[in-house]
Amino acid sequence: MLDAVTGPDWTVQLHPMAESTNELAAADPVAGTVVVADHQTAGHGRMGRTWQSPPGSALTFSAVIDPGLPDADWPLLPLATAVAVAEGLRRCTGLEPVLKWPNDVLLGDPVGEGLRDGKVAGILLERVTAADGTPVAVVGVGVNVAMTPDQLPVPTATSLLLAGANVDRSAVLGAILHALTVEVTALASEPDRLLARYSAACTTLGHEVRVDLPNGNVITGLAESIDEHGRLVVAGRAIAAGDVVHVRAHPASP
Ligand code: BTN
Repeated sequence: MLDAVTGPDWTVQLHPMAESTNELAAADPVAGTVVVADHQTAGHGRMGRTWQSPPGSALTFSAVIDPGLPDADWPLLPLATAVAVAEGLRRCTGLEPVLKWPNDVLLGDPVGEGLRDGKVAGILLERVTAADGTPVAVVGVGVNVAMTPDQLPVPTATSLLLAGANVDRSAVLGAILHALTVEVTALASEPDRLLARYSAACTTLGHEVRVDLPNGNVITGLAESIDEHGRLVVAGRAIAAGDVVHVRAHPASP
Protein backbone atom coordinates (compact mmCIF):
# COMPACT_ATOMS: atom_id res chain seq x y z
CA MET A 1 0.00 0.00 0.00
CA LEU A 2 1.16 3.50 -0.81
CA ASP A 3 1.89 5.86 2.05
CA ALA A 4 -0.08 9.09 2.09
CA VAL A 5 2.02 12.01 0.89
CA THR A 6 1.15 15.40 2.27
CA GLY A 7 2.56 18.82 1.60
CA PRO A 8 1.61 22.46 1.68
CA ASP A 9 0.25 22.45 -1.86
CA TRP A 10 -1.81 19.27 -2.06
CA THR A 11 -4.51 17.36 -0.18
CA VAL A 12 -4.04 13.70 -0.98
CA GLN A 13 -6.94 11.19 -0.98
CA LEU A 14 -5.70 7.63 -1.00
CA HIS A 15 -8.06 4.90 -2.29
CA PRO A 16 -7.13 1.21 -1.96
CA MET A 17 -8.94 0.58 -5.24
CA ALA A 18 -10.62 2.77 -7.88
CA GLU A 19 -11.80 2.28 -11.44
CA SER A 20 -10.22 5.54 -12.65
CA THR A 21 -8.66 8.29 -10.56
CA ASN A 22 -9.51 10.78 -13.33
CA GLU A 23 -13.18 9.85 -13.03
CA LEU A 24 -13.08 10.17 -9.23
CA ALA A 25 -11.30 13.53 -9.35
CA ALA A 26 -13.62 14.89 -12.04
CA ALA A 27 -16.71 13.95 -10.00
CA ASP A 28 -15.88 16.64 -7.39
CA PRO A 29 -13.02 18.71 -8.79
CA VAL A 30 -11.50 20.76 -5.99
CA ALA A 31 -8.22 22.46 -6.94
CA GLY A 32 -5.33 21.14 -4.85
CA THR A 33 -6.82 17.68 -4.44
CA VAL A 34 -4.83 14.61 -5.49
CA VAL A 35 -6.71 11.34 -5.90
CA VAL A 36 -4.41 8.31 -5.67
CA ALA A 37 -5.41 4.69 -6.25
CA ASP A 38 -3.27 1.95 -4.78
CA HIS A 39 -4.80 -0.23 -7.51
CA GLN A 40 -6.63 1.25 -10.48
CA THR A 41 -8.88 -1.25 -12.28
CA ALA A 42 -10.21 0.60 -15.35
CA GLY A 43 -7.88 3.50 -16.11
CA HIS A 44 -8.52 5.83 -19.04
CA GLY A 45 -5.80 6.56 -21.60
CA ARG A 46 -5.46 9.12 -24.39
CA MET A 47 -7.45 8.79 -27.62
CA GLY A 48 -10.10 6.58 -25.95
CA ARG A 49 -7.63 3.87 -24.94
CA THR A 50 -7.44 2.05 -21.59
CA TRP A 51 -4.57 2.14 -19.07
CA GLN A 52 -3.83 -1.09 -17.27
CA SER A 53 -1.59 -1.90 -14.33
CA PRO A 54 -1.39 -5.01 -12.15
CA PRO A 55 -1.80 -4.42 -8.37
CA GLY A 56 1.22 -2.88 -6.67
CA SER A 57 3.13 -2.25 -9.90
CA ALA A 58 2.16 1.31 -10.80
CA LEU A 59 1.58 4.79 -9.45
CA THR A 60 -1.82 6.06 -10.60
CA PHE A 61 -3.09 9.46 -9.54
CA SER A 62 -5.00 12.53 -10.67
CA ALA A 63 -4.27 16.06 -9.47
CA VAL A 64 -6.86 18.81 -9.75
CA ILE A 65 -5.23 22.08 -10.79
CA ASP A 66 -6.50 25.61 -11.32
CA PRO A 67 -3.73 26.83 -13.62
CA GLY A 68 -4.99 30.42 -13.79
CA LEU A 69 -4.24 30.51 -17.50
CA PRO A 70 -6.10 32.21 -20.33
CA ASP A 71 -7.89 29.65 -22.53
CA ALA A 72 -5.35 30.15 -25.31
CA ASP A 73 -2.54 28.85 -23.05
CA TRP A 74 -4.32 25.70 -21.82
CA PRO A 75 -2.73 23.56 -24.57
CA LEU A 76 0.62 24.16 -22.82
CA LEU A 77 -0.56 22.40 -19.64
CA PRO A 78 -0.06 18.83 -20.95
CA LEU A 79 3.47 19.80 -21.96
CA ALA A 80 4.16 21.33 -18.51
CA THR A 81 2.87 18.13 -16.92
CA ALA A 82 5.16 16.02 -19.09
CA VAL A 83 8.16 18.14 -18.10
CA ALA A 84 7.15 17.82 -14.43
CA VAL A 85 6.73 14.03 -14.60
CA ALA A 86 10.11 13.64 -16.32
CA GLU A 87 11.75 15.97 -13.77
CA GLY A 88 10.14 14.15 -10.84
CA LEU A 89 11.30 10.77 -12.18
CA ARG A 90 14.80 12.13 -12.79
CA ARG A 91 15.00 13.46 -9.22
CA CYS A 92 13.86 10.27 -7.53
CA THR A 93 15.66 7.74 -9.75
CA GLY A 94 18.67 9.43 -11.36
CA LEU A 95 17.40 8.19 -14.73
CA GLU A 96 17.07 10.60 -17.69
CA PRO A 97 13.55 10.36 -19.15
CA VAL A 98 12.73 11.86 -22.53
CA LEU A 99 9.39 12.98 -23.95
CA LYS A 100 7.36 11.88 -26.96
CA TRP A 101 4.95 14.58 -28.12
CA PRO A 102 2.59 15.47 -26.64
CA ASN A 103 3.13 13.88 -23.23
CA ASP A 104 4.46 10.34 -23.19
CA VAL A 105 7.43 9.88 -20.87
CA LEU A 106 10.01 7.41 -22.17
CA LEU A 107 13.08 5.66 -20.81
CA GLY A 108 16.01 4.10 -22.60
CA ASP A 109 15.60 1.50 -25.28
CA PRO A 110 14.06 -1.59 -23.59
CA VAL A 111 13.99 -3.58 -26.84
CA GLY A 112 17.75 -3.19 -27.22
CA GLU A 113 17.62 -2.36 -30.92
CA GLY A 114 18.90 1.16 -30.50
CA LEU A 115 15.70 2.33 -32.15
CA ARG A 116 13.18 3.33 -29.58
CA ASP A 117 12.67 4.10 -25.93
CA GLY A 118 9.99 2.48 -23.77
CA LYS A 119 6.99 4.33 -22.37
CA VAL A 120 7.26 4.54 -18.58
CA ALA A 121 4.50 7.06 -17.89
CA GLY A 122 1.37 8.40 -19.54
CA ILE A 123 -0.62 11.56 -18.90
CA LEU A 124 -4.30 12.24 -19.49
CA LEU A 125 -5.41 15.82 -18.93
CA GLU A 126 -9.09 16.72 -18.87
CA ARG A 127 -10.72 20.14 -18.49
CA VAL A 128 -13.71 20.18 -16.12
CA THR A 129 -15.67 22.81 -14.19
CA ALA A 130 -15.36 23.25 -10.41
CA ALA A 131 -18.44 23.90 -8.26
CA ASP A 132 -17.83 27.68 -8.39
CA GLY A 133 -17.67 27.64 -12.20
CA THR A 134 -13.87 27.87 -12.48
CA PRO A 135 -12.35 25.72 -15.23
CA VAL A 136 -9.86 23.30 -13.66
CA ALA A 137 -7.62 20.58 -15.04
CA VAL A 138 -7.75 16.96 -13.94
CA VAL A 139 -4.17 15.88 -14.54
CA GLY A 140 -4.04 12.07 -14.57
CA VAL A 141 -0.64 10.39 -14.39
CA GLY A 142 0.20 6.71 -14.60
CA VAL A 143 3.77 5.57 -13.94
CA ASN A 144 4.98 2.01 -14.49
CA VAL A 145 7.02 1.73 -11.30
CA ALA A 146 7.75 -1.93 -10.57
CA MET A 147 6.39 -3.91 -13.52
CA THR A 148 8.28 -7.00 -14.53
CA PRO A 149 8.57 -7.89 -18.25
CA ASP A 150 5.53 -10.20 -18.15
CA GLN A 151 3.43 -7.44 -16.51
CA LEU A 152 4.03 -4.82 -19.21
CA PRO A 153 0.77 -3.98 -21.03
CA VAL A 154 2.53 -3.70 -24.42
CA PRO A 155 6.05 -4.59 -25.59
CA THR A 156 6.84 -0.91 -26.18
CA ALA A 157 6.36 -0.11 -22.46
CA THR A 158 8.95 -0.24 -19.72
CA SER A 159 9.08 0.37 -15.98
CA LEU A 160 11.38 2.21 -13.60
CA LEU A 161 12.41 -1.17 -12.21
CA LEU A 162 13.31 -2.52 -15.65
CA ALA A 163 15.31 0.63 -16.32
CA GLY A 164 17.33 -0.05 -13.15
CA ALA A 165 15.53 2.04 -10.49
CA ASN A 166 14.01 0.20 -7.54
CA VAL A 167 12.02 3.03 -6.00
CA ASP A 168 9.02 3.35 -3.73
CA ARG A 169 5.76 4.59 -5.29
CA SER A 170 5.27 7.18 -2.54
CA ALA A 171 8.67 8.69 -3.30
CA VAL A 172 7.73 8.91 -6.98
CA LEU A 173 4.44 10.61 -6.10
CA GLY A 174 6.14 13.17 -3.86
CA ALA A 175 8.79 13.99 -6.47
CA ILE A 176 6.24 14.42 -9.28
CA LEU A 177 3.89 16.57 -7.18
CA HIS A 178 6.77 18.85 -6.22
CA ALA A 179 7.84 19.22 -9.85
CA LEU A 180 4.23 19.77 -10.94
CA THR A 181 3.88 22.66 -8.50
CA VAL A 182 7.05 24.25 -9.86
CA GLU A 183 6.17 23.84 -13.55
CA VAL A 184 2.54 24.94 -13.31
CA THR A 185 3.43 27.95 -11.16
CA ALA A 186 6.09 29.03 -13.68
CA LEU A 187 3.86 28.45 -16.71
CA ALA A 188 1.65 31.53 -16.31
CA SER A 189 4.57 33.98 -16.12
CA GLU A 190 7.19 32.16 -18.21
CA PRO A 191 5.66 30.12 -21.05
CA ASP A 192 8.90 30.43 -23.04
CA ARG A 193 10.82 28.69 -20.24
CA LEU A 194 8.41 25.77 -20.47
CA LEU A 195 8.71 25.55 -24.27
CA ALA A 196 12.51 25.55 -24.02
CA ARG A 197 12.53 22.83 -21.33
CA TYR A 198 9.98 20.76 -23.21
CA SER A 199 11.81 21.03 -26.55
CA ALA A 200 15.14 20.08 -24.93
CA ALA A 201 13.60 16.85 -23.57
CA CYS A 202 11.42 16.02 -26.60
CA THR A 203 12.88 13.10 -28.52
CA THR A 204 10.19 13.45 -31.20
CA LEU A 205 12.03 16.46 -32.61
CA GLY A 206 14.46 15.39 -35.31
CA HIS A 207 12.56 12.17 -35.99
CA GLU A 208 10.71 11.24 -39.13
CA VAL A 209 7.23 10.66 -37.72
CA ARG A 210 3.83 9.36 -38.66
CA VAL A 211 0.96 11.25 -36.99
CA ASP A 212 -2.55 9.80 -36.90
CA LEU A 213 -4.91 12.75 -36.55
CA PRO A 214 -8.23 12.54 -34.66
CA ASN A 215 -10.10 12.92 -37.99
CA GLY A 216 -8.43 9.78 -39.40
CA ASN A 217 -5.95 11.62 -41.64
CA VAL A 218 -2.27 10.75 -41.48
CA ILE A 219 0.68 13.13 -41.73
CA THR A 220 4.26 11.95 -42.22
CA GLY A 221 7.49 13.92 -42.27
CA LEU A 222 10.21 15.44 -40.17
CA ALA A 223 9.18 16.66 -36.69
CA GLU A 224 10.76 20.11 -36.78
CA SER A 225 9.73 22.07 -33.71
CA ILE A 226 7.16 22.88 -31.05
CA ASP A 227 5.37 26.16 -31.71
CA GLU A 228 4.26 28.74 -29.12
CA HIS A 229 0.90 26.97 -28.71
CA GLY A 230 2.54 23.62 -27.91
CA ARG A 231 1.74 22.23 -31.36
CA LEU A 232 4.10 19.81 -33.11
CA VAL A 233 5.33 21.15 -36.44
CA VAL A 234 5.74 18.32 -38.96
CA ALA A 235 6.94 19.15 -42.46
CA GLY A 236 5.81 22.75 -41.95
CA ARG A 237 2.35 21.86 -40.64
CA ALA A 238 1.34 22.59 -37.00
CA ILE A 239 -0.53 19.70 -35.34
CA ALA A 240 -2.60 20.29 -32.19
CA ALA A 241 -3.59 16.68 -31.43
CA GLY A 242 -2.65 13.26 -32.71
CA ASP A 243 -0.92 9.98 -32.12
CA VAL A 244 2.76 10.04 -33.03
CA VAL A 245 4.92 7.12 -34.14
CA HIS A 246 8.67 7.70 -34.37
CA VAL A 247 9.63 6.14 -37.70
CA ARG A 248 13.36 6.85 -37.70
CA ALA A 249 15.82 9.45 -36.48
CA HIS A 250 16.52 12.01 -39.18
CA PRO A 251 20.01 11.49 -40.64
CA ALA A 252 20.93 15.11 -39.86
CA SER A 253 19.95 14.89 -36.17
CA PRO A 254 22.71 14.35 -33.57
C1 BTN B 1 -1.97 7.66 -22.01
O1 BTN B 1 -0.76 7.60 -22.19
O2 BTN B 1 -2.78 7.16 -22.81
C2 BTN B 1 -2.49 8.35 -20.78
C3 BTN B 1 -2.61 7.39 -19.63
C4 BTN B 1 -3.06 8.07 -18.37
C5 BTN B 1 -3.30 7.07 -17.27
C6 BTN B 1 -3.56 7.73 -15.95
S1 BTN B 1 -3.50 6.55 -14.62
C7 BTN B 1 -4.15 7.72 -13.53
C8 BTN B 1 -5.17 8.54 -14.28
N1 BTN B 1 -6.49 7.92 -14.19
C9 BTN B 1 -6.92 7.50 -15.37
O3 BTN B 1 -8.01 6.91 -15.58
N2 BTN B 1 -6.00 7.75 -16.32
C10 BTN B 1 -4.87 8.45 -15.77
